[in-house]
Amino acid sequence: MDIINVKNLQKSYGNHHVLNGLDFQAQAGEIIGVIGKNGAGKSTFLEIIMTIKDYDAGEVVVLNENLQGLSTNQIELIRKEIAVVLQPTHYYKNLKVGELLRLFKAYYKSEIDINKVIEDFKLGPHKKTYFDKLSGGWKQIVSLAIAFLSKPKLLILDEPTTGLDPHMRNLLWSYITEYNNRNGGTVILTTHYMDEIEMYCDKVMLINEGKSELFATPENILSLGYKSVHEFYLNKVSI
Ligand SMILES: Nc1ncnc2c1ncn2[C@@H]1O[C@H](COP(=O)(O)OP(=O)(O)OP(=O)(O)O)[C@@H](O)[C@H]1O
Ligand SMILES: [Mg+2]
Repeated sequence: MDIINVKNLQKSYGNHHVLNGLDFQAQAGEIIGVIGKNGAGKSTFLEIIMTIKDYDAGEVVVLNENLQGLSTNQIELIRKEIAVVLQPTHYYKNLKVGELLRLFKAYYKSEIDINKVIEDFKLGPHKKTYFDKLSGGWKQIVSLAIAFLSKPKLLILDEPTTGLDPHMRNLLWSYITEYNNRNGGTVILTTHYMDEIEMYCDKVMLINEGKSELFATPENILSLGYKSVHEFYLNKVSI
């Protein structure tokens, strides 16, 4: 089953054509990285497949449903299957980590044991800390732990590791790959770290000039003669 199937996607902000014929597919269980320069349209693309941003033309199928013409109720059903982690937010100012997890457990009607989540995500020392007072890395870890409470079929992450130190990046990726291995969950993320594409992603899409310029495996890229995905990127994308 196609988890996502996008054909000829077009999206403009006023006269600015950001996406101009983008194609993309994700099969169940894949981890796919989306790359491209600042302003290429990566977040715009993610927001469209999250169903929170509309688009001008093209076909967008998410979890077997064509988004065009869906009712609000049908959109709600799709959203229940998707979890999202955006850049660190300050939404949760007045709640401690433990309180937040319990709140979202109730919201998602989740059966998951919160003490186990706190143990799994090494959140013990932070459970009584206000979310707002956590470092950026721990905010991302808590956001991921919250996202998993809903047992999502599809996990969408916008630059989940930006600004994290090497250990925090490893920790975050260990949770993502474990979710993927254990539940067969599909992951679509953006990153500017090309080493993450090589290490963790099954496929990579490069957005350039509003199009999916490349949609391949990291091995495909290396087999073209590039030493790394980083080198490929610098070669293909101009400033
Ligand atoms: N709501 C909006 N209204 C007008 N222009 C927008 C809006 N959102 C994004 N843009 C513009 O669309 C383009 C693509 O933005 P987007 O955030 O999708 O890029 P990105 O690839 O995620 O970049 P980055 O790597 O910096 O996160 C940019 O030029 C941006 O300024
Ligand atoms: Mg972005």
